[in-house]
Amino acid sequence: MMVSISAITPILSFVSSALAFKATQGHYGTYSIVPGFFKQSSNDTNVKTFDYHDNLGLNDNLTWPEFRQQILDLNENAEPGVSYKVIYFGRHGQAWHNAANEFYGEAFWCYYGLFAGNGTVTWGPDPELTPKGIASAKNNSVLIKSLIPEGFPLPQSFYSSPLTRAADTLNYTWFDLVLEPGYASPVFKESLREWIGVGSHTIRRSRAYLEQRYPLFSYEANFPVNDTLYSPYEGETDSAMQWRGKQFLDDVFNSDEAVFISATSHGAIGDESLSWILFLFSWI
Ligand SMILES: *[C@@H]1O[C@H](CO)[C@@H](O)[C@H](O)[C@H]1NC(C)=O
Ligand SMILES: *[C@@H]1O[C@H](CO)[C@@H](O)[C@H](O)[C@H]1NC(C)=O
Ligand SMILES: *[C@@H]1O[C@H](CO)[C@@H](O)[C@H](O)[C@H]1NC(C)=O
Ligand SMILES: *[C@@H]1O[C@H](CO)[C@@H](O)[C@H](O)[C@H]1NC(C)=O
Ligand SMILES: *[C@@H]1O[C@H](CO)[C@@H](O)[C@H](O)[C@H]1NC(C)=O
Ligand SMILES: *[C@@H]1O[C@H](CO)[C@@H](O)[C@H](O)[C@H]1NC(C)=O
Repeated sequence: MMVSISAITPILSFVSSALAFKATQGHYGTYSIVPGFFKQSSNDTNVKTFDYHDNLGLNDNLTWPEFRQQILDLNENAEPGVSYKVIYFGRHGQAWHNAANEFYGEAFWCYYGLFAGNGTVTWGPDPELTPKGIASAKNNSVLIKSLIPEGFPLPQSFYSSPLTRAADTLNYTWFDLVLEPGYASPVFKESLREWIGVGSHTIRRSRAYLEQRYPLFSYEANFPVNDTLYSPYEGETDSAMQWRGKQFLDDVFNSDEAVFISATSHGAIGDESLSWILFLFSWI
């Protein structure tokens, strides 16, 4: 069993990873990156200088319509049990816990991160985006709009972490493009949450709160009413988080017909979990 990914955009400080995934055999499929579409999937790309603002990293020898067609052709000609999807992976814009982490430095943040804030700034539970974070999400919206006349394939479905910094980033990026009633209702998925535990910024709001704040969004099956995953005493292990990232891919490959997909989440899932999944499963 094997799943592959077709294109990749590892996450940088903020947005989009366009991951082209190839998956083989539904349920416990394996995943790999299909090389050749995005600069970010090449080992020759320096991730420190790479800038997704440059056409989201699409290789210079491809136009967006050619890219779209090649992905559709891969699916058309795939062996049974193999499928390809492109995931535009967005990390949320800067939130208050990110600003505080920078301000205090990593070592002190281990301590300050346990609290709700410092009297000036609130960073937990579930911190808001900073003005800088909102601006970068809106800037991404401008970027996407500039690509539409070039034939950029818009996502057909949307997934979000249930933390508000991700949902807001998704909204500011895609709102006036596609988030109209009747077109797309982004789905909240627990599997897209940040590394969970201890730090107050990892606590999730209740479903009732989210329903009120995001009337256009919907919920995966069995989405808990309250946060059942956070613990103030224990952080999720890396392998638990990686398993969660794989669950996201398993769900999407098993239940969503869409080929072009948007997922808005967090650095830990994007950089560590998905990269790990790609790394691991390309070996199976
Ligand atoms: C486009 O360029 C990439 C990266 O150099 C390469 O891997 C790919 O094979 C090229 N595709 C075509 C159709 O020439
Ligand atoms: C990138 O490097 C890794 C590890 O060295 C290797 O397994 C993988 O096949 C390489 N990917 C590409 C697209 O060349
Ligand atoms: C805003 O987007 C433009 C073009 O997409 C990019 O060059 C610029 O660096 C972005 N600015 C910020 C603050 O992200
Ligand atoms: C609280 O943290 C913010 C960084 O997000 C910093 O600008 C501010 O000065 C801090 N306030 C106090 C009282 O330390
Ligand atoms: C979504 O973004 C739009 C446009 O930027 C804004 O008007 C609206 O209030 C946002 N919705 C939510 C729920 O934040
Ligand atoms: C969710 O939390 C609220 C507020 O703490 C509480 O009243 C309610 O009973 C909880 N619901 C469940 C199903 O745990």
